[in-house]
Amino acid sequence: MFRKITLAILGFCLFCSGPGFSTDFRPTPEVDLGRVLIVFFSLTGSTQRLARILRLYSEGNLAAIVPSEPYDLESVRSIAKTEITTNYRPPLASPIPTVDDYDLVIIGAPVWFGDIPPPLAAVLDKCDFLGKPVAVFCTFNGSAGDFLSKFRENIKNANIISEGKFSGITRRNNANLNAIALSWLKSIAEAFPKQ
Ligand SMILES: Cc1cc2nc3c(=O)[nH]c(=O)nc-3n(C[C@H](O)[C@H](O)[C@H](O)COP(=O)(O)O)c2cc1C
Repeated sequence: MFRKITLAILGFCLFCSGPGFSTDFRPTPEVDLGRVLIVFFSLTGSTQRLARILRLYSEGNLAAIVPSEPYDLESVRSIAKTEITTNYRPPLASPIPTVDDYDLVIIGAPVWFGDIPPPLAAVLDKCDFLGKPVAVFCTFNGSAGDFLSKFRENIKNANIISEGKFSGITRRNNANLNAIALSWLKSIAEAFPKQ
């Protein structure tokens, strides 16, 4: 009896260590891009809404960029204008995410005066992307301006494989936004076949 149990345990251990078994369990995502980190900044929720849908379809991890001092909605336009023109980098309440453990980093933020918002600039200043594939997206209402070129100027050592521009998020219903997000992820998967 004892011998049978020992053999059963041994058999199970061998099965687990075999080539088809991984203890590193990840649910199968709708679009498989490997391990995905989605970093986003959002003031009024649009970018966050899109980031959450991207997370849902990619089974990625979400990391919000949070400034130590929250922006006041009444005065954000004048404060943001000053911060952008003076290249100010606000201190962040959230730690800078580590990209080492990921196959793909998706970064999203709203367009602020045709530029990247200062909290995103603060992250890009501090972070080395180690040659990782990066997909970037912005949300906006009228024009994305120079957001993408400013992003490219500020990010360090990234292999930018896709750029998404999404306008009028608040006007879109969930089904429409889901479809847009899914289609963008699929286009990334084509540009960046999983290893
Ligand atoms: C300070 C500030 C500046 C903005 N500048 C622009 C702009 O240049 N172009 C534009 O189309 N929308 C602009 N917007 C609108 C936002 O980009 C848009 O509403 C975005 O989707 C908001 O994302 P969020 O809800 O994640 O913060 C601006 C909004 C703010 C608060």
